[in-house]
Amino acid sequence: MAQKSRKPSLTHRVNSFPAAWSWFVDELIPTYVKRTYSPRESWKDKPFTTEDARFFFKGISELSELFTEERPTKLPEYFAHPKFRSAYLLYFLPLQAAKFLSVFQLHPEATQAALKHAAKTGTLHLADLGAGPGTASIAFLLWLLDQPLPDGRKELPTIELHWFDTNRAIMDDGAALIQALSDQFPKLRGKVQGHMHGEPWWKATPRLPRETSLIFFGNVLNEAALPQQASWSAILERAQGAGTLYIEPALKRSSQLLSQLRDELLEAGAIENSARSIWGPCLHAERCPLAAGRDWCHFSVPVEIPGRWFTSFSKGLGSERQWVKFSYLWLSSPEARAPVPSPRLRRVVSDPIQKDRNADVVLICEPERPGRIRVPSSRHVHRGDLITED
Ligand SMILES: C[S@@+](CC[C@H](N)C(=O)[O-])C[C@H]1O[C@@H](n2cnc3c(N)ncnc32)[C@H](O)[C@@H]1O
Repeated sequence: MAQKSRKPSLTHRVNSFPAAWSWFVDELIPTYVKRTYSPRESWKDKPFTTEDARFFFKGISELSELFTEERPTKLPEYFAHPKFRSAYLLYFLPLQAAKFLSVFQLHPEATQAALKHAAKTGTLHLADLGAGPGTASIAFLLWLLDQPLPDGRKELPTIELHWFDTNRAIMDDGAALIQALSDQFPKLRGKVQGHMHGEPWWKATPRLPRETSLIFFGNVLNEAALPQQASWSAILERAQGAGTLYIEPALKRSSQLLSQLRDELLEAGAIENSARSIWGPCLHAERCPLAAGRDWCHFSVPVEIPGRWFTSFSKGLGSERQWVKFSYLWLSSPEARAPVPSPRLRRVVSDPIQKDRNADVVLICEPERPGRIRVPSSRHVHRGDLITED
């Protein structure tokens, strides 16, 4: 394919964390984990120490092994083990929440659509399917604490969380964290109600409100075979307001699964065939160029995740994190469509694949097949950036 020269116009950088983040990850989670998961009664009410970090790190390290590219197609029921629930809360919850926060910051219009919808209906209904400890909901509440409300409103609406997960114990952990979070901040106090369902996510539809402001699927699609098309339409019909946000690991299999799901939903008419049906990352509604083959659509956002214990666990895993990596798809709802992207805008879907003295070649998202373009090296263009033609 001919290589065109284009000037980068917009970058893809996110690095702010909610004010409540440090309290949440350095105080609330470790205190809760120690109280709930310490093997000895006498340890439970003492502060979380380096020795505790060493004790709980074993589960973090084992769970991290399980979550790699070589993971089995069907994962074992890891949350049946207290060792893995405590590991997830201490390390993976902050890690996955940081990914949700990154995506909220990449799509501020979408998050505002959820708030506007809630202002209209009087209740912010958030559905979290494959909720685990409610990571996505927690990230949204932390983010919400810092947001101005639409139309100059002073108070948040009532917030109802609808969680579905095949493991109840991890939802109970999340519910305890949400309770402590909402007790801590006057803005949330008395506002948050949880509805936890110990069921597979594809049984959610009859229990979801007709007017759900946002539906989350966090790192769950890759854990089980996907159900029939019919249930997708039913679920997506409930997603009013900001629509449906899927985040999956940046691994090839899970990212391509998400791209394939996107193509199937468009082909089956479960979502309207228009770029306005998608907040991101796609700028078109034609076939995804990376649903199969060598490359896959995923993003690396430069972020330093704050947190004393998080940093120490990352070091222990040999990966001091300066990036979060994920794949995602955010579908809009019929009542709040995504803006029409400029026809000259393109999403970069690779880091430089070739370099010469003055220019880098990167892949860009085009229908069916990725395109290639040359960009000046001085612009340091990365996967995920948006660029426009001169
Ligand atoms: C990796 S965790 C993700 C948790 C949370 N959404 C997050 O992003 O941190 C995957 C969760 O999906 C749940 N899960 C797996 N298969 C499921 C299914 N068919 N229905 C509902 N939950 C499921 C697991 O129990 C687990 O809590």
